[in-house]
Amino acid sequence: MVDDVPESQDREVPRPPRRNGSPPKVLVELGAYVGSSAVAWGQILRDLNQGQAACRVFTVELEPAFASISRDLISLAGLSDVVTVLQGQSGDILRTLKAEHGVDKIDVLFIDHWEKFYLPDLQLVEELGLFRKGSLVLADNTDNPGTPAYLAYVKKGGSGEGGVRYESVSHKTVAREGVPVSAYRRSSNTPWI
Ligand SMILES: C[S@@+](CC[C@H](N)C(=O)[O-])C[C@H]1O[C@@H](n2cnc3c(N)ncnc32)[C@H](O)[C@@H]1O
Repeated sequence: MVDDVPESQDREVPRPPRRNGSPPKVLVELGAYVGSSAVAWGQILRDLNQGQAACRVFTVELEPAFASISRDLISLAGLSDVVTVLQGQSGDILRTLKAEHGVDKIDVLFIDHWEKFYLPDLQLVEELGLFRKGSLVLADNTDNPGTPAYLAYVKKGGSGEGGVRYESVSHKTVAREGVPVSAYRRSSNTPWI
């Protein structure tokens, strides 16, 4: 079993992953829009880390105007020390996370941008070695219009025998059929994790 995978499909809010008993420190969100969910994530991580500034949220937004509004909203919420808006195309930004922002591992990846990028960006994060054992991936809007390729990939456990593995649970929400939460697990053949 993967550490800290949610036990119940009835739970609406997934239990956050813990590394060595500590709460998640680094969350990356793909798709900020005007920053509402980034504010929520920032407050959640701050609360979980009991107000210490050791947690970070990076939210990625393609549109400069939306990125600017997000920065204003995050500032109004008093979360600029926790949440950073990175403006650009998700793939380009993911490639800069380590070198430019010191991100070694992602504890939680929240995917909420355009559906056609879900699977390529998940696989890019794998290639970049940004997951650790127990990293969680949450994906919104997978059922309407849907991300069949992404769902098939995480449901079968990733790239297959000897590759990456996921264990996934779909959480029901009020509006949607399910929000899959996938826990990344170490494979014996992936010593780079
Ligand atoms: C569904 S909205 C995000 C909603 C936000 N997470 C929330 O819950 O408040 C999707 C956003 O992703 C952005 N987006 C789409 N494709 C993107 C990409 N490849 N890279 C970065 N942002 C992208 C869009 O501009 C849009 O603002």
